[in-house]
Amino acid sequence: MGWFSKKNTFFLPCTTDIHSHLLPGIDDGVKTIEESLEVIRFLNDLGFKKLITTPHIMSDYYKNTPSIIRSKLEEVRFALKEAGMNVEIEAAAEYYLDEHFYEQIINEQELLTFGENYILFETSFTVEPLLLKEVIFKLSSNGYKPVFAHPERYLYLHENTRLLNDLIDQELLFQLNILSLDGYYSKPVQKMAIKLLKSNAITFVGSDCHNLLQAQAIKKALSSKNAQLIKSINLKNRNL
Ligand SMILES: [Fe+2]
Repeated sequence: MGWFSKKNTFFLPCTTDIHSHLLPGIDDGVKTIEESLEVIRFLNDLGFKKLITTPHIMSDYYKNTPSIIRSKLEEVRFALKEAGMNVEIEAAAEYYLDEHFYEQIINEQELLTFGENYILFETSFTVEPLLLKEVIFKLSSNGYKPVFAHPERYLYLHENTRLLNDLIDQELLFQLNILSLDGYYSKPVQKMAIKLLKSNAITFVGSDCHNLLQAQAIKKALSSKNAQLIKSINLKNRNL
């Protein structure tokens, strides 16, 4: 070995992010408009030009509605304009799979989507929800394209290859968290993230950024060796 080649190349897989918590004070993401702008500036400096932010909607904790989310989005857009920041921001939601979500689907209430009717949802990290397959089926039947937020984080999916294959057969789209690649959440989550990437099961990536510390961790994760695995993936983020 004669020469060292420096391999800490920073890799940004796409300029559109589809998962974050950047509307102030309505979930466990940023708390104030100042914090919102600070994090958005950091993500923009990383190279993200468009942010589709996704506040939690969870009946027990975050009772957000389309109108609450839209009015917060307008506040942030106004502040960005005032600050002279040229970054595009839209909002959808991250729906938690609970009975409230199921009822909203059944009753055909307005659901927040992005792109071509994509709808982002998450579940419990530990227990497979009874309604999982039913919710995916109903959403698809109603013309939505369901997107599973961070599948690598669900422990109930780690050893259940059968369920994993069933979900893929249902044409559920998988969104990987960038932070998972760097072991930010845990080693098993990192392992699952790599497995899903290598088996070509990932369609979207997301920052799932809640605050400045996570934004900084995302920068670090994008410099990691594992981030290179995203290079060969035909991400749908790139069409948004
Ligand atoms: Fe999230």
